[in-house]
Amino acid sequence: MIFKHDVLIIGGGLAGSRAAIEMAGSGADVAVLTKVYATRSHSCAAQGGISAALGNREEDNWLWHAFDTVKGSDYLGDQDAIEVMCHDAIRTIYELEHMGVPFSRTEEGRIDQRPFGGHTRNFGERAVRRACYAADRTGHVMLHTLVEGCIGRGVRFYHEFQVLDLVFNDGVCCGVVAYEIKTGRLHTFHARAVLLATGGYGKAFRVTSNGMANTGDGFAWPYRHGIPLEDMEFVQFHPTGIHGFGILLSEAARGEGGILRNKDGERFMERYAPTVKDLAPRDMVSRAIRTEIKEGRGFPGEYVVLDLTHLGKDHIESKLPDITSFCRIYMGIDPVEKPVPIHPTAHYAMGGVPTDIDGRVVKDAANTPVPGLWAAGEVACVSVHGANRLGTNSLLDTVVFGRRGGKSIKQTLPGLEWTPLPEDPEATVRDHIARVKAGTGELAAPIRKELGETMMNDCSVYRDEAGLTACVAKVRELRERYRSVRVSDKGDVFNTDLLEAIELGSLIDVAEGIATAALHRTESRGAHSRMDHPDRDDTNWLKHSLVWRDEDRGCRVGDKPVTITRFQPKPRSY
Ligand code: FUM
Repeated sequence: MIFKHDVLIIGGGLAGSRAAIEMAGSGADVAVLTKVYATRSHSCAAQGGISAALGNREEDNWLWHAFDTVKGSDYLGDQDAIEVMCHDAIRTIYELEHMGVPFSRTEEGRIDQRPFGGHTRNFGERAVRRACYAADRTGHVMLHTLVEGCIGRGVRFYHEFQVLDLVFNDGVCCGVVAYEIKTGRLHTFHARAVLLATGGYGKAFRVTSNGMANTGDGFAWPYRHGIPLEDMEFVQFHPTGIHGFGILLSEAARGEGGILRNKDGERFMERYAPTVKDLAPRDMVSRAIRTEIKEGRGFPGEYVVLDLTHLGKDHIESKLPDITSFCRIYMGIDPVEKPVPIHPTAHYAMGGVPTDIDGRVVKDAANTPVPGLWAAGEVACVSVHGANRLGTNSLLDTVVFGRRGGKSIKQTLPGLEWTPLPEDPEATVRDHIARVKAGTGELAAPIRKELGETMMNDCSVYRDEAGLTACVAKVRELRERYRSVRVSDKGDVFNTDLLEAIELGSLIDVAEGIATAALHRTESRGAHSRMDHPDRDDTNWLKHSLVWRDEDRGCRVGDKPVTITRFQPKPRSY
């Protein structure tokens, strides 16, 4: 069946729903396609907060926020985009408040703010309370508010419609092909504009804080159509994943006073970041934890602990209710009484589909737009996070750039013609499904398991040439094995076996891009830490990477300049 809407938004999380709200009521016919029910999008797992220099608890300034974001990014973030985001943050928070987001409050009734990693006052003096929050469910309450806002404004949702490809005609994106999960039917959606808001790819790693849906699909589709991915080597490991599970224990726990300790009970972050200690940026804290473990100061089983016991039951249960229950349920540990075992967990993609500050997808170093295609949120690389994102800036990114993408489409639509669909737009997807259903090789699960292990062992917090070379080779071997992947379920109704096999194809493409870019960048910057090239090298590497997919020869790598406005690169210490 062919559906027709002016605008398609792929993904019902925060970036997608904020973009949809922007366009609702403009006369444009907007539809959101989402492979999960929209309120189950991974945005709902964001816990600790969303930053803005409101100054509700102490003096703050959006320029301090911008400086922290640039420094946190290890000077790889584009400063024009960072200025847009940090300046717009304040308006954005009040807008969210007026839409109904139930933020936690100060005693006087203002939006409360807590400290978070890397956020400081006066250009690095000391930690500042900048993160607005709703206990430790900030993403959850924002998502529910925005999805309700979409429904109230008449936005059409196609829940559990899994997009499997973008449709292009003569270089113009003019729709998508989607699989209706309930029936197994394929549909073509014809549109004048498509906005990708599909979130991240954490499931490429064995240990991740990401939900099942985060399989990098929105990275893989444009990549397969010749559009490069930017800064893929920069993968954020959140320092505090629950040991053995990777489930997120919010950085808010350290914002509220939690302390990381090694097996000797030492507050080891004092050695790595003497000024901000446990509230250093995530790349530094994750490296510190891995170093403690490598040097024999971790616990047997490779973890350190997060100690909240000094905070008291009332404080813990009121400010951190969700993570308290996660510890009790998943680990049988009460954080009120005992420190919690944690280790770094794959959390966030700093890189992604390159866009300009209005969400237009661009296809080269000269920022040439791809007609008909926009992107926002984690799947996009605008780039505000550079080599390392500060906690709370992801929620901000989704709503600031979701809105800007929506605005840009709204302004562009009147001059945007309908590009005709190509002949048989579903052909590639139909063939892929047929091939997987007829496959006689391995099941997807073991291939996926090996992919996760490889990425975890050779492409995580610490990297080196030997490991990355082996990683690229392994991913290419897995791609070969994937060609004959087989599924047990050949049916049409809720065939998640088939869909997981198809998602594995996305994960393989994304993983190859990550490992290739990581091998290429022979320096250490932000979350990309090369043991064989331990220093940042601004002379040769103060530039974004671009990777293009080439199935036969491996990825091709290029680069793109970084935009610097106010803050010249300096050595980074905290
Ligand atoms: O730790 C957290 O609450 C996560 C926040 C973020 O990734 O921004």
